[in-house]
Amino acid sequence: MNADPVSASAAPSAPDFASLHVAVLAGGPGSERAVSLNTAKGVVNALTGRVASVSLVDVTGPDFVLPAGTNLAFNAIHGTFGEDGDLQAELERRGIRYTGAREASSRLAFDKIASKARFRTAGVRTPVEWVLRADEASAESVTFPCVVKPPREGSSVGVHILQTPEGWDAAVADASKYGADLLVEEFVAGKELTVGIVGDLALPVIHIQPRSGFYDISNKYPWMTGQGGTDYFCPADLSAEVTQAVQAESLRAHRALGVEVYSRVDVLLRESDSLPFVLEVNTIPGMTESSLLPKAAAAIGMDYASLCLKIIELSLNSD
Ligand SMILES: Nc1ncnc2c1ncn2[C@@H]1O[C@H](COP(=O)(O)OP(=O)(O)O)[C@@H](O)[C@H]1O
Ligand SMILES: [Mg+2]
Repeated sequence: MNADPVSASAAPSAPDFASLHVAVLAGGPGSERAVSLNTAKGVVNALTGRVASVSLVDVTGPDFVLPAGTNLAFNAIHGTFGEDGDLQAELERRGIRYTGAREASSRLAFDKIASKARFRTAGVRTPVEWVLRADEASAESVTFPCVVKPPREGSSVGVHILQTPEGWDAAVADASKYGADLLVEEFVAGKELTVGIVGDLALPVIHIQPRSGFYDISNKYPWMTGQGGTDYFCPADLSAEVTQAVQAESLRAHRALGVEVYSRVDVLLRESDSLPFVLEVNTIPGMTESSLLPKAAAAIGMDYASLCLKIIELSLNSD
């Protein structure tokens, strides 16, 4: 008869935080640089005193230099060279462990066209779309109201909501500044929601209510533009049944893209039938102390520093 080995616990062990020399990767070269710098400052504050050392590294491209002895990169870069898989590839090449989604899932999640194709195969509900080449894009090929967006951007950069064909040319010209492919989606009228995922857990749903217009860059970051504003409600005022459906659809979207560790899934809840439609999975969601993912974590009693440490723990266990 064999006795169970003493250490046979299936739960992954918590990392030895006191052995971690963490470089918080900040900024990045993309349009979300300012937000990334704020995220990184929050993470540095949270980790200070909780790991062996923390440094902030301003990254503008692949030639960034990490302090000697760094044994974990905390990725706080949204968008280009942070969220799109290229930074992950560079860190893999250097053999540096890092937080968040790996290279392949980052690439998939960052490309809204590729994500939506994967959502369809996995049965995740997402708005009807048309993929157009900017130089051939014609208002006749879509229906209105619709949303024109660059497929590989964030922070609502280049996103235009059109009720009618009026404004089509200007929207196409603006969205195509970021690349030749355009994603046009059917406009979904309803509540805007976002759902944080940490490990296997869908956090409480957040309802995002811009004070006017849609959730564009000025309503997202009033501190940046000095105008706009948004109210956030967490947990969202939804029935238990709808809440569960939204969380389940978000978790399905996160898993359909093979995302590891954590994400924040943007969802629209269609007004006419309360069905959730997934817009995208953000693999490096905003992580300032007042950002949405920390807000959702706080709603289950997980404070900001605990969330940062949880992300580290899950990331080290996903290697
Ligand atoms: N199909 C859609 N119907 C209605 N609103 C949309 C749609 N797509 C995007 N939006 C609005 O535009 C915002 C940004 O779109 P999203 O696809 O999440 O791109 P980003 O990566 O820039 O956040 C959303 O938060 C929402 O307010
Ligand atoms: Mg979004």
